[in-house]
Amino acid sequence: MDREDSMNPNTLENYWMPFTANRDFKADPRMVVSAEGMYYTSEDGRQIMDGSAGLWCANAGHSHPLIVEAISSTAKTLDFAPMFNFGHPEAFRLAAQLATLFPDPLNRIFFANSGSEAVDTALKISLAYHKARGKAGKTRFIGRERGYHGVGFGGISVGGIVANRKQFNTHLPGVDHMRHTHDPDRNRFTRGAVSHGAELADDLERLVALHGAETIAAVIVEPVAGSTGVLPPPQGYLERLREIATKHDILLIFDEVITGFGRLGRATASEYFGVTPDLITFAKGVTSGTIPMGGVAAAQFIYDAVVENSETPIELFHGYTYSAHPVATAAALATLRAYTEEGMFENAANLEQAWGDAFHALKDAAYVTDIRTIGLVAGVELASRDGAPGARAYEVMKRAWAKGLMVRVTGDIIALSPPLILSEADIGFMTDTLRGVLAETA
Ligand SMILES: Cc1ncc(COP(=O)(O)O)c(C=O)c1O
Repeated sequence: MDREDSMNPNTLENYWMPFTANRDFKADPRMVVSAEGMYYTSEDGRQIMDGSAGLWCANAGHSHPLIVEAISSTAKTLDFAPMFNFGHPEAFRLAAQLATLFPDPLNRIFFANSGSEAVDTALKISLAYHKARGKAGKTRFIGRERGYHGVGFGGISVGGIVANRKQFNTHLPGVDHMRHTHDPDRNRFTRGAVSHGAELADDLERLVALHGAETIAAVIVEPVAGSTGVLPPPQGYLERLREIATKHDILLIFDEVITGFGRLGRATASEYFGVTPDLITFAKGVTSGTIPMGGVAAAQFIYDAVVENSETPIELFHGYTYSAHPVATAAALATLRAYTEEGMFENAANLEQAWGDAFHALKDAAYVTDIRTIGLVAGVELASRDGAPGARAYEVMKRAWAKGLMVRVTGDIIALSPPLILSEADIGFMTDTLRGVLAETA
């Protein structure tokens, strides 16, 4: 390729896109060039309603002036600060604010830059915690089928999305999985936590019996499984996991990378369900997706065990060059301010009923086999085409884009998780568009 070609912004070949059908996309690209509030603008100048908050992250809506201002002014004053042995005051301020958002006693905050890094961090903190208490044999992790915990080796090992694992074969050793909670025969078309399946939490008890509690460090679940296609937990399930984990001195990790920051109308799913884990992983909504940031909120007793028992001056040999990056920190502080000052979590909570009503009214739309809603999340499951699982929802995604609506798809499930600033009229646009698109889809 000559230099002129390599400078041509329309060359699509070089970018190896993540989790994307590269060949299909490059043949018919869907490009966005700007974003504001509830909308993206496509390259051909159309307004596209953001039905998925980007990738479940733009909770405050796009290009929020407070956040944009915080990012640009910080980039001018403190472009980078090393956090190993040095600090910058805003990082501590952010940690203190986050400590008030997460449930007690999760008041010690470790910063990373993504959900995947947050998950690896939580797993490593769990190992360090047990080791610090003389229980170095507790090294096993328990995840759940259909769980998504990012793409690091830790995350794919505890994760349970088959395609994300089987291409690579090698995982962390000693990991086991509980069964997933999807039970459409008993729970079809429900809102909020589903009625049946609390007993599936007893899988943890069975795995303790199989492996021995003295080998298990932590159990990790998404309180609402998102990426696999929206699976709210069975009523009583998270409570039961909490009890079993406590009984066997196993740390309970809630991966709140998508449920955190208002997605369910509360700061966390832990608050929504009234169940407090020992560690929470977060990312995405902490900066409303504007600048990469993730992290872990750890219970104070975990921090104390690791820090107080440390035989070395540095207590935890873990961290990232960009942990609490000043620009990300500023973005997060401004995002939290926007959430509070503009009552965004409250807006999400107030709209939960209307959101559920509108989506459940799609029950009779073409191909729909199940609808699950909770907070501002909806999963619309479609009957698969014979011999081509996923093809129908993929077509729906493309047709919705053509009609001005961005949605996510996983297999034959369409997932929606809009910015928390939406209105009832926006909900109407989403469901009307989907109904029309389903009717046109083969
Ligand atoms: C529950 C959960 N954990 C972890 C991740 C990974 O986050 P990231 O893509 O920022 O690494 C995601 C991303 O969707 C997620 O939904």
